[in-house]
Amino acid sequence: MNHLYIHIPFCASRCGYCDFFSQAGNLSRGEAYVDALLAELDDSAVVGQAERLPGELASCGTGSTDDSSSATGGLDTVYIGGGTPTLLGFRLLERLLSALRPLCREGAEITVEANPTTVTPELAAGLAESGVNRVSLGAQSFNRRLRKNLGRTGPVEAIGRAMTALRAAGFENVGLDLMFSIPEQTLADLEQDLIEALALEPEHFSCYELTVKNGSDYQRRWQRQLEEVAGNGPRFYETVVDTLEDAGYRWYETSNFARPGKECRHNLAYWQRADFLGLGAGAWSSQGLNRWRNLEDTEAYIEGAAPGDWEGIREHERLTRSQQLTELLMLGLRLKNGIDRQVVAEALDGEQENILLRNGFLLNEGGRILLTRRGRFVANEVCARLIKD
Ligand SMILES: C[S@@+](CC[C@H](N)C(=O)[O-])C[C@H]1O[C@@H](n2cnc3c(N)ncnc32)[C@H](O)[C@@H]1O
Ligand code: SF4
Repeated sequence: MNHLYIHIPFCASRCGYCDFFSQAGNLSRGEAYVDALLAELDDSAVVGQAERLPGELASCGTGSTDDSSSATGGLDTVYIGGGTPTLLGFRLLERLLSALRPLCREGAEITVEANPTTVTPELAAGLAESGVNRVSLGAQSFNRRLRKNLGRTGPVEAIGRAMTALRAAGFENVGLDLMFSIPEQTLADLEQDLIEALALEPEHFSCYELTVKNGSDYQRRWQRQLEEVAGNGPRFYETVVDTLEDAGYRWYETSNFARPGKECRHNLAYWQRADFLGLGAGAWSSQGLNRWRNLEDTEAYIEGAAPGDWEGIREHERLTRSQQLTELLMLGLRLKNGIDRQVVAEALDGEQENILLRNGFLLNEGGRILLTRRGRFVANEVCARLIKD
C-alpha cells in the first residue's frame, strides 16, 4: 500500500448538491474522531510496512513531483479529504500529520483538501511546516449569484485570501476546484469564472460538471434551471478545456488539468487502479480484487475504534476479474495517456474498437489505447461501446 486516503466527515454546513459523506457541525467529535483514525492507522498494513523498511522512510514533504509510485516501501501519496479537513483546525490535523510523517517515503505527496474560508495564514504556515505540500481548494465559482444557487457559504473573497496565505506559507502546489453547469449559469459566467480562477495562478484545476442526485431536495428545488443548463454542458466543457489548455495546463484526466509535473499523484494512482488504503468513516480501500468500505457513520466509527472492532464497521466486496478489467478500462481512458491495451484486451469489444479507431475517437499508440481529443469529449459514449457485453 503506497497510497493512503483519510476521510474527514465534517463540514461547516452542507452544500445542497454534494453527495460526499459529511455532517454539518459535530466538531465536538473532532478529537475522538482523530483518535479513531490514529487507531485505525496503527492497526493497518502501512504501519507494518513502514516498520519493515525503516531506512527508506526518512522525511515527507520535500515537494518533489517525481512520480516514484512504482517503488516499494513507505507511502508515496497521502490525501486528507472530506468533508472539510481544514475545519478540524491545525492542532488536530497536526496530530494526524505527525503520525503520518514517519510512514512516508522521501518526496511523498501530501495533500489536504480545504474550504477557502478555513485557510488562515496561521493554518497555511502550520500545514507547510507539518509536511503538507499540496492543497486542494474548493472554489467552485467566483460568481456570487451562482454560489448562492449552489448553497456555498462564505465570501467569494475568501478564495483569493486563501491563495495568498498558501503562497506566503511557501506552497508551490495548489489546486482549485471549479464546477460548471450550475443552475442559471451562462457561458459568459463560466468564462468570467475561468478568468478569475486563472488570475490566481494555481498549479492544478479540477473542473467538474455539477451532478445532482436523482430525487434530492436540490434537484427538486432547481429542476427547471438544471434542465436548461444541461443543454449547455458540452459547450461549457469545451470552454473549460480550451481555456485551460490555452493557458498552458495539461488536460491529463477527463476533469483535471495541471502545469507539467504538477499532476495529482494520488489521484493518478487511483485512476491507474493502484492499491490504496482508506481510513475513516465512509472511506474505501482497495487491494487487488478486494474492496472494503467503512460505514458512513461517524459515531459507529469512533465507537468501533476503541475495541478495535473494525470488521463491525466494514463492508467487503470482491470484484470479478471482468469487473476489474472494465474498471481499469474506464478509468484508464479518462487519462490522456490511456492504458496498456494488453492489460484490458479481454474487456474490449474488438469490432467496436476498430470502428472507433477508424472514426477518429480512439488511438493505439505503441500498444496503449487512448481517446483522441474528439473522443475525450464523448468519453462515456466511447467507453460504453468499447466494453464487451
Ligand atoms: C469532497 S469536495 C471537498 C471540498 C471542500 N469541502 C469544499 O467544498 O470546498 C471535493 C470537490 O468535489 C466537487 N463536488 C462536490 N459535489 C459535487 C457535485 N455534486 N457535482 C460535481 N462536483 C462536485 C467540488 O468541486 C468539491 O470541491
Ligand atoms: S463543503 Fe465540500 S464536502 Fe462539505 S458539503 Fe460542501 S462541497 Fe460537500
